[in-house]
This record gives sequence, structure tokens and C-alpha cells, in this order.
Amino acid sequence: MEKTMDFRTPALDALAHEVIPEQHFEFSAATARDRFFNDTRMLDVKQWVHNAFRTNPKSMLDHMLGNLAFTGSEDLLDLGCGNGFVLEHLRPHFADGSITGLDIAPAVLAAAAERLNGTATPCRWIEGSADDLSLLDTDAFDRVMANYMIHYVPDLDRCFAEVRRVLRPGGLFQLTTDRTDSMLEMYDVHFTALKAMAAPEDLFKATPKGRLSLANGAPQLRKHFQHVETVTWQDQLRFTDPAPFMRFYQVGHNHCCASSEPDERLSDDFFTELRDRVNAQVERAIKTNGYFAVTKYTGSFLCR
Ligand SMILES: C[S@@+](CC[C@H](N)C(=O)[O-])C[C@H]1O[C@@H](n2cnc3c(N)ncnc32)[C@H](O)[C@@H]1O
Repeated sequence: MEKTMDFRTPALDALAHEVIPEQHFEFSAATARDRFFNDTRMLDVKQWVHNAFRTNPKSMLDHMLGNLAFTGSEDLLDLGCGNGFVLEHLRPHFADGSITGLDIAPAVLAAAAERLNGTATPCRWIEGSADDLSLLDTDAFDRVMANYMIHYVPDLDRCFAEVRRVLRPGGLFQLTTDRTDSMLEMYDVHFTALKAMAAPEDLFKATPKGRLSLANGAPQLRKHFQHVETVTWQDQLRFTDPAPFMRFYQVGHNHCCASSEPDERLSDDFFTELRDRVNAQVERAIKTNGYFAVTKYTGSFLCR
């Protein structure tokens, strides 16, 4: 029988309580399109690190395959499909079906089209926002996915109503997101460094996924779907060299959102010192424990 990995400990729970702020960052879809996903760098770094440093033998893609229960010929809509990394891996499991990938950012959408170019599964690529699916027919899809993107969507109720409309009877909507205390060790070293630098108070905020997290999303989805099930999945990234973690922190997470948008209070020197202070803590953890751990609490809502 498959073993479910559980990385939670009372010490991590206590740390989460101490470290993760109530308030979270908020970014618009336009910021996502023009700043975060105007090229594939952020996604490339995240996808590499999440895979190369994981310790759960069951990958996120395995988790999704379990959820989506493909039979081989499903029509799938992927909202915020990014560079098509997930689609590439899932595609053989519904090779006789079809793919529709929608994203607000043309650069990553082009990368997805390139990645899937030449497959026998028909693909359609749409540039647009997930809360306007007016280009799509009613009852057109067997599966709809929205992975790690819903916090950017301006009108969540409209998005969920639209997903309901385009989903065939008996179809499944998978919405994948994190808990706000996911990767709390990264936030811990980041906030410790910010405190030591007496940084502006408004930088002490949780991930923008707090807008619809694994902890608070179900009631929002129940307004539109009769059945909403939460399926959780954990992992722990372990780094024995600070360099890949620092790339993940800086490029993949914009220094836990501190460098997400231009801020004249924060100079290049500020970010150099911030990285030095974070790096020193990661080095210390590696020296003491053999590795620096980053624990992930993530999962999916399965909506019918
Ligand atoms: C963190 S990435 C996730 C990509 C992909 N789903 C994955 O899991 O690898 C978030 C994606 O959502 C897209 N996005 C942001 N706002 C959007 C919106 N309102 N409608 C559609 N896509 C959006 C971004 O351009 C980006 O590609």
C-alpha cells in the first residue's frame, strides 16, 4: 500500500503559528502577466527545485494523476496553464482526448504551445483571464484544472460559475493551491532577516495564496459545486547547498514577494544584505542538521 508522507511536527506547527502573518500579499492579474510571467524564468526555477530537491517519492504530478482519474480520452481545460509543464506530464494519460490551455501571459502560453508542439493530442491555446470563458462552449470539458493560479483571478465567483458552465455533467474541477504556512522555513529565515534590518512593516505578509488557500477555499467553492473534497499532499525539499535554495527564494519567489513590485524604499543594497542574511541562516542550518528543510503543505480541491 502506498505510504502517505507526513512531515508535520509539533515544532513546525508552533513555528507556523509564530512566523506566518495573518495578512497576505495581493497581486493583480496584470502584475502576474507583465512582471512575473513575462518570461518563463520564475516557473522554470520553481519546477526544477520542486522536483530536484523533493523527498516525497510521490510527486505533485502523481498526486494530480490520482485526483484526475483519466480514462484516456478526456477533454481537459487548464486555467493558467503557464509553460505547459503539468500538461506535458499529464497528456499521455488522456492521449485520445484534447487540451485547451488558457493563460493571461502570452510569453508562458507560447512556451506551453512550443512544449506540446507535434503531439497527436489536439491542443488549443487561448490568451485570456480565467474569469471570462465566453469563448468556450457549455458542457465542453470532462476535466478543468486551475493549479497554483487562482489567487490572481480578479472575479472568483465568475470564474467558478464559468467553470461549472463549461464542465460536462459528471466532470471534475481540480483546484490546486497551498496552505499559507507551506514552505514556512523559507518565510522564517526571510522574516528573521527582515527584522534584523528593521525593514518596513508592510513586507511582513504571507503568500498571496492566502486569498484562496487550502485552508479557506472550500466555502467559496461550495457556492458553485455540490461536492467539494480536499485532498492534501505534502513534501519536504532538502538542500545541502544554499545556492539552489537562494535561486528559488530570489527568482522563484521574489524574496517572499518583497521584490515583486517596484518599491523606491528598497535599494539593490537592501536586497544584497537581505540575501546575505538569509544565506547565512541556510548555511547554519546545513552545518547543524546536514540540510535546510522547506516543508510544503499543498493539495487540491476536487469539485463536482
Ligand atoms: C504559478 S503559475 C502556475 C502555472 C501552472 N498552472 C503550473 O502549475 O505550473 C500561475 C499562472 O497563472 C497565470 N495567470 C495569472 N492570472 C491569470 C488569470 N486571471 N487568468 C488566467 N491565467 C492567469 C500566470 O500567467 C501564470 O502562468
